[in-house]
Amino acid sequence: MYFRQAPGSHPAQYLGKLQMPRKRLIAANWKMYKNPEQTSAFFRDFLPAIKDHTRDEIVVAPPYIDLHAAVAAAKGSNVSISAQDVYWKEEGAFTGEISPSMLVAAGCTHVIIGHSERRQYFGETDDTVNLKLKAALEAGITPIACVGEVLEEREAGLTEDVLRRQCVRAFNAMSAAKAAKLVIAYEPVWAIGTGKTATPQMASDAHIIIRAEAAKAFGQEFADNLRILYGGSVKPDNAKALMSEPEIDGALVGGASLDPKSFTAIVKY
Ligand code: 13P
Repeated sequence: MYFRQAPGSHPAQYLGKLQMPRKRLIAANWKMYKNPEQTSAFFRDFLPAIKDHTRDEIVVAPPYIDLHAAVAAAKGSNVSISAQDVYWKEEGAFTGEISPSMLVAAGCTHVIIGHSERRQYFGETDDTVNLKLKAALEAGITPIACVGEVLEEREAGLTEDVLRRQCVRAFNAMSAAKAAKLVIAYEPVWAIGTGKTATPQMASDAHIIIRAEAAKAFGQEFADNLRILYGGSVKPDNAKALMSEPEIDGALVGGASLDPKSFTAIVKY
C-alpha cells in the first residue's frame, strides 16, 4: 500500500484529495501450454495455496480450450480467469476467432490484448489492438493491454518513442469513462522468455512514460489510478524487487506461472 506523493508532502496535499492506492494485479499468461486436465490439476494445487491472499488481485489466462475447466475450478475463489486474445466483432464469418461476449459467457473477466507474440507472429498491429480494446471494454471485460520495445529499439534509444506510439494508438478514440477498467502491461520484448529481466529502475522508467501518455489521453486522475504491470522473466526470486517499485502495479508472468508452486511464490512475493 502506498500513495503517489511528492517527497515530504502528505498525499492529500499533493493530489488535492486522497488518492486510493492501486491494488496490485498478478496475472499468469500460460501462452500455448496445458490442456483441460492439466488446467484442473494446476488449480487443485494452486487454490489452497493462495486461498487467503487478498493483498493482490490474481488472474490466470489459459488457452481458450482450457477456459471452461479454469472457470469451473476457480468458481467462488479469489482467482479471475482471462483469455489471451479476443476479436473485435460480435459474431460472424470469422473462422477461428472468439468475440468479447463469448468470453463473458464463458466466465472470463479479463483478456490480454496485443501481446508481443501476437504482434510478432500473428500480425497484431497498434490499430487492431485499439479495436480489440474498445470491444473488450464495451463488453465489460478488463483488458490487459501489452506494450513494449524490442531489443533493437532499446539499443537505438527508441524505447520512449515506441511506448508513446503504442499507447497513443491503443488509446485512440476512447473516453476515460469507457477505458476505466483498462490495465496496461509493460513487457519489453527482449525480456520475454529470455531470463533477462528489466531492472526495477528500467521498468519503473517505462511505466512513468506509459502513465504520462495515459494522463494525456484520459486525464491525471485516470493515470493515477491506472495499473501498469511488468512482464518479462518475472520469477519467484526477482518478484519482490520489482513489486517494491511504487510505479509497478503487478506482474504478467509467463513461464514461471505454469507451476503452481512458483506462481504461488510470485503471488506472495
Ligand atoms: P516470461 O515470464 O516467460 O518471460 O513471459 C512473459 C510474458 O510474455 C507474459 O505475458
